[in-house]
This record gives sequence, structure tokens and C-alpha cells, in this order.
Amino acid sequence: MHIHRLLFLLPPISAHALGGIRIIQSNDDGWAELYVRSFHDALVASGHDVVLSAPAENKSGSSSLDVEPHPRATSCQYSSCPPASGPIGCNATSPRLNWVNSFPVTAMRYGIETIGPQFWNGAAPDLAVSGPNVGSNLFLQVPFSGTVGTAVYAVGQKGIPAIAFSGASHGTLSWNTTPVPERSLVYAELAARLTDAVVASGKPYLPPNVWLNVNFPEASDECNSAANFKWVLSRINPGIFSPADVQQCGGTRLPTETDVANGDGCYVSVSVGDARDKSTAPAAEQAVVLKKLGSLLSCLP
Ligand SMILES: *[C@@H]1O[C@H](CO)[C@@H](O)[C@H](O)[C@H]1NC(C)=O
Ligand SMILES: *[C@@H]1O[C@H](CO)[C@@H](O)[C@H](O)[C@H]1NC(C)=O
Repeated sequence: MHIHRLLFLLPPISAHALGGIRIIQSNDDGWAELYVRSFHDALVASGHDVVLSAPAENKSGSSSLDVEPHPRATSCQYSSCPPASGPIGCNATSPRLNWVNSFPVTAMRYGIETIGPQFWNGAAPDLAVSGPNVGSNLFLQVPFSGTVGTAVYAVGQKGIPAIAFSGASHGTLSWNTTPVPERSLVYAELAARLTDAVVASGKPYLPPNVWLNVNFPEASDECNSAANFKWVLSRINPGIFSPADVQQCGGTRLPTETDVANGDGCYVSVSVGDARDKSTAPAAEQAVVLKKLGSLLSCLP
């Protein structure tokens, strides 16, 4: 209900002014999961040229697996495609919504190499986004996450800057759930907002080999609209023996994303990830992201 108002309160920072960019989108919960569809709609509303290429069904936890898609015998997740409909397919009336019958990374690979360029006169995407995942992807979950796997693949193998989004509020929702629950809309707004901030910061959108791991807390009575959330720069893993982090919030050790998630309030963790090992990127890369996101970021209390 507040969502239409939110669209006016939180306009995309300048995506329309920039004319929007080419975005390839995936996830690991499946192409017909509502979170990824709400995010798709929010990116379109921000003026971006978005193509979804995601697994035909829930492939959560498949990390970086990549296997050629094979023809489906049964229907896709939530009966979202008919049985025996081949190895890849799309929504006939919304052909930018595509499924690939394989793992998340395979879906991202097809999206980048084959599906996206069909809509972009052969061009590659400017940015890759994944999720929002149904459930958090913090610290020890990161290496196993397919959501993270697709972002790391895009950056590490294709040199395309990437952002992985996850939301703590879980419970599966099919693409055609009506009305759309607020958590799906709030996560979509937040993810689009961060995407727009990265886009507005200009090219290169992120340093080489860097991806962002973004985790939203539960959408609750308190955290029920995008305007209530604050963004905190974080680390993926604790930094006990690591070199200093970028100077932020009066120190040189960033909070872990788990610290941010456990904090009281509506705090979103934004970790600067190193695509080479799915750990926290060094201070020099953190500093670039800090400068780009600037005024969006807050400190934990
Ligand atoms: C996908 O499957 C995993 C377990 O394999 C489960 O934890 C997760 O909630 C499922 N996600 C969806 C969107 O169904
Ligand atoms: C396909 O897209 C149409 C809108 O063009 C929508 O009504 C329908 O629910 C979509 N189905 C799936 C499975 O995406």
C-alpha cells in the first residue's frame, strides 16, 4: 500500500537521466520466484534494459556449478512452463523473462553470452545482478550460495560488475502471487535503489574482481518500507587477522555482515567481495566502493 508513494519518495537516483543501462539478472531460487520478478519490475521502472535468465527451478545451494542445460521432462517450478519444453525457454508474452534448465551459473552464462545480446543488438550487459535470494547469504553461507555464485561468475569469468542480493524474510512465493506481499516489494525497491546508486556513480561501476554481497534484514512491522532501511559497509568474514579495512565510522575494522544482520534496526549490509575467493576485498577496493556509495551509507549505532 505505501509502495506507490515510495516510488515517488525514493526516485531512482539518476537512472532515467542516464538513460538506463543493460542489466542481466539471475537468481538461484528459480525464474518464477516472486522476489526476482518484483526486482525485475523495479529495475524496469528505474529505466533499465533488463533481461532475466535464471534456473527453471529452485537450485539453491549450487555454488558455482555450471553444466549444459538439458531438456525438461516435467513442467518448470510452480508450473511456470509446460512439460517437455526443451533445455531453455522464455515467457512467450514477456520474452525478457527466461529460464535455463540447469544451475544458476549456467543460467547467468547463457544470459550473458546468448539471451541478453539478442535484446541488445549483440552487446554485453553493463551490470549483472542476482536475487534477491529467499533467505540471507552471510559469511559461511557465501561459498555455497548460487546467488553469490552467479555474481562471482559474472565478475570473475566475464569481467562484468555484479551485485548479489539476499533477503532474510523467507517463505517461497510463486511469480503470480496476488497481492504481491510487501516483503517482495520492499526488497525489490531496496535492490533497485542500490543498483541505481552504483549506476549513478559512473563507470567502471565496480573495481575489477569486485562484487557486492548485499543482505537485507527481515521485512517486519518496523522495517516495512524501503525508507526505513539504512545501509552499512561490512565484511563477509571476520577480520581478526586481516589487514586493516578502509577507514569508516571512526575505525579501520568494518563490522561483519553477521554483526549488521544481528543489529537492532533495519540495517542492510553491503560487503565488498573478492571474486577470486569469495572473501572480503582489500581496503583499496573497499575505499572505491565507499566513495561511490558515499551518502547512502550509515554507521551502526
Ligand atoms: C530452495 O531449496 C532450498 C533447499 O534446497 C530451500 O532452503 C529454499 O527455501 C528453496 N527456495 C525456494 C524459493 O523455494
Ligand atoms: C508471462 O508474462 C505475462 C505477462 O506478459 C504474465 O501475465 C504471466 O503471468 C507470465 N508467466 C510467467 C510464468 O512468467
